[in-house]
Amino acid sequence: MLTLKDPTLLKTQNFIDGRWVDGGAGTIDVTNPATGEIVTRTANGDAADAERAVEAAAEAFKAWSRVPAKQRAVLLRDWFNLLMANADDLGVIMTAEQGKPLFESVGEVAYGASFIEYYAEECKRYKGATIPTISNDRRLQTYKQPVGVVGCITPWNFPNAMIGRKAGPAMAAGCTIVIKPATETPLSALAMCELADRAGIPKGVISVVAGDNSREIGKVLTQHEKIAKFTFTGSTPVGKKLMEQCSKGVKKVSLELGGNAPFIVFDDADIDAAVTDCMATKFRNCGQTCVCTNRIFVQEGVAEEFTAKLKAAIEELHVGDGFDEQTTTGPLVNEAAVKDMHAFMDDATSKGADVLTGGGSHALGNCFFEPTLVTGITDDMRMAHEEIFGPIAAVQTFATEDEVIERANDTEYGLAAYYQTRDIGRVMRVAERLEYGIVCSNSGVFSTEVAPFGGWKESGLGSEGGEEGISEYFDTKFHSMGGIE
Ligand code: SIN
Repeated sequence: MLTLKDPTLLKTQNFIDGRWVDGGAGTIDVTNPATGEIVTRTANGDAADAERAVEAAAEAFKAWSRVPAKQRAVLLRDWFNLLMANADDLGVIMTAEQGKPLFESVGEVAYGASFIEYYAEECKRYKGATIPTISNDRRLQTYKQPVGVVGCITPWNFPNAMIGRKAGPAMAAGCTIVIKPATETPLSALAMCELADRAGIPKGVISVVAGDNSREIGKVLTQHEKIAKFTFTGSTPVGKKLMEQCSKGVKKVSLELGGNAPFIVFDDADIDAAVTDCMATKFRNCGQTCVCTNRIFVQEGVAEEFTAKLKAAIEELHVGDGFDEQTTTGPLVNEAAVKDMHAFMDDATSKGADVLTGGGSHALGNCFFEPTLVTGITDDMRMAHEEIFGPIAAVQTFATEDEVIERANDTEYGLAAYYQTRDIGRVMRVAERLEYGIVCSNSGVFSTEVAPFGGWKESGLGSEGGEEGISEYFDTKFHSMGGIE
């Protein structure tokens, strides 16, 4: 049983049309990946539940879209305040269902809430335009209007923040939203609804249909005639299928998909800082983020020093249960993810990679995998091309700037890229040449609500965060007024 200051935040029913309801498909277990223990059972929603939620969202949209932005902002601000006031409990709930260390969970709650705060402010400023007329009997204006009901599927790696990042701008714009959280992590989403309800967000504006019937629910959220827009964070293959489903009704789509982030260390980098930044981006959330470093490229002159220091830093990590205060690195999300790590390792070692530390299941068992460093990665290995999504740091070397840019760009993905150099000319050059939606120089962290987060190529469509993030939830209407003299 979880110890919460406010036990009523542990919700086990779905939240549809402002009411807590059972799931049409019974219940499912929510399991703690660190212990294998069942945290609780929650409602297992089905397509009929999703349809009810969409109908309720469509009804709620009629009034919510007409609530003045200033009033919507007050309600969203109240929701933000409640999320922050309950951050400790929300963190406990997240660590129990997802496994990440408690400090990361509590940090994620603040990160997720920051989008709600930011868009509560931003919606008051979002406006259309008056366009200089083309003749004196006409006036030309644009209006920005909320797109309508939003269908949304969120991932297990950020059970809170990805909801804040989508629901915040959607609701601020005047849209209503139906969320299907990942099967593994419904509890964070449901607790967020409880706090939205306490903040006075009207019924039907936000609904959550949790459960393991992802395909059925996903069909409703991508194809229901009353859905205007669909937004998804998850893998590229699933994103492509969902996009195809959306094409039938020409739904607006935003997708935040997979990544294959390069982390480039040039000879002139501050090597200690590069190691710290690499650790931050590689091992955050046990390597399970779309923007985690995936391919580490080190220039030949500093490869030995960087690798030795990276090894030492990896060996400092403390693997354990997210509730243990010492833990820096929690479990992977499930046993399938552990199998994936073994498959990556078997492939690399059979082709000649060297394992400098780690390399196998952790002594803690369950879903734990050792933080790992492998070098000698070559082009024929899966790690050179595929998203690892786990705690394996894979290092390859390069000779020149041109060569590494070409290799870094040689992927169908284009989400985030990192590089380390003290040459200001190179800082600018490399930023311009990397084919990624986010480039991050001399740092391992960039995520913030005030800037756009989005991928190029097969990493996605659209952006979340910053002013771009809310524009995804507005339609532009052009009003051409004639007969005016
Ligand atoms: C993600 O992995 O999709 C989100 C990471 C972040 O927002 O920093």
